Amino acid sequence: MAHPLDEHGQLRSADPHGMMALTLDFPAQCKRAVELAGEWRLPNLPREPRLIVVSGMGGSGIGGDYLRALFEAHGSLPVLVVRDYHLPRCVDPHTLLFAVSYSGNTEETLSCYEQARARGAMRVAISSGGELQVRAQREGVPHLQVPVGQPPRTALGYLFLPMAVLCERWQLLPNLEQVLARTLQRLVQSRDRWGISVAYEQNHAKQLAAALHGKLPLLYGSGDYRAIVATRWKGQFNENAKQHAFANTFPELNHNEILGWVGAKRQAKNFAVVVLRDPDESIQIRTRVEVTRQLVGDAAEWHEAWAEGDSLLERLLMLTYLGDFVSLYLAYLNGVDPYAIDSIDRLKAELAKLASSE
Ligand code: F6R
Repeated sequence: MAHPLDEHGQLRSADPHGMMALTLDFPAQCKRAVELAGEWRLPNLPREPRLIVVSGMGGSGIGGDYLRALFEAHGSLPVLVVRDYHLPRCVDPHTLLFAVSYSGNTEETLSCYEQARARGAMRVAISSGGELQVRAQREGVPHLQVPVGQPPRTALGYLFLPMAVLCERWQLLPNLEQVLARTLQRLVQSRDRWGISVAYEQNHAKQLAAALHGKLPLLYGSGDYRAIVATRWKGQFNENAKQHAFANTFPELNHNEILGWVGAKRQAKNFAVVVLRDPDESIQIRTRVEVTRQLVGDAAEWHEAWAEGDSLLERLLMLTYLGDFVSLYLAYLNGVDPYAIDSIDRLKAELAKLASSE
């Protein structure tokens, strides 16, 4: 008998809005995103930036963390990601602000966009339309329009890669051409390993989803960029599979969360740890992971997912992509539509009412 995750017909009818198709399209989306940013009429920056701030929420904010990882490894400017209504006081005319909102209507992002104007920061807006586009066009602020019509969390390529390419074009990041070409190849290979048509026996994403089904996943990044990927996995598990998952990172979790395992058996018998790992981890991190595994003991199942590739970008996006597939297979096993985000929609509607009554 076929494994439930190999029942293609049933999987398709459980996914009426085609989240799997959008996920299979991710490598092609990344290619289009790079082209889009490469062809965009690059505005001159009136001043040398000293700080980059990315304002965005949820699926639009996480791209800021990915940009931060690139700058930490290859750039010389600090990158701050603001997921709130307010910009920190350090934002000034030497700040380059990316206001990123797929819909263009997220109020936290619009609020930061306005504050950046008041502070005289250099602004670039990225959205598929919405109020952000209207305001940017009205004020002559550079606006990069990404294709419309998909959930923001499936548009990471559009929401992250253009920022990297623009920074490269402004010479704030080194040349990315080869790294991008290899990353795109790696994503195609990954799709061909984890996509729906690959049978359960050969498909690590399906196997991991099946192992995590019914469990409370604790997603541990092994430090560095894996901390960001763990956060992305958490968001995808929450939004696509409608379940809790928690994310933390080495080495920080060895200074607090490690003690939670002492009482873990009293709290839940269904924990599962997934460690997101990198082949070049330091000996300290490897030792931490190993000792943590011993301390967790039989209080939880233990899984590992390893990044592959030559460059940071390749490893970052490849490991991200694995989590996207796992979250969709989990959605199917949980019997939920991966597309629906009713609770987020309801909150946004309530806040919109509040804004219009003010
Ligand atoms: C929905 C999703 C959300 C949104 C967030 C902000 O797919 O991923 O996390 O990204 O609610 O909305 P936007 O991206 O339109 O600014």
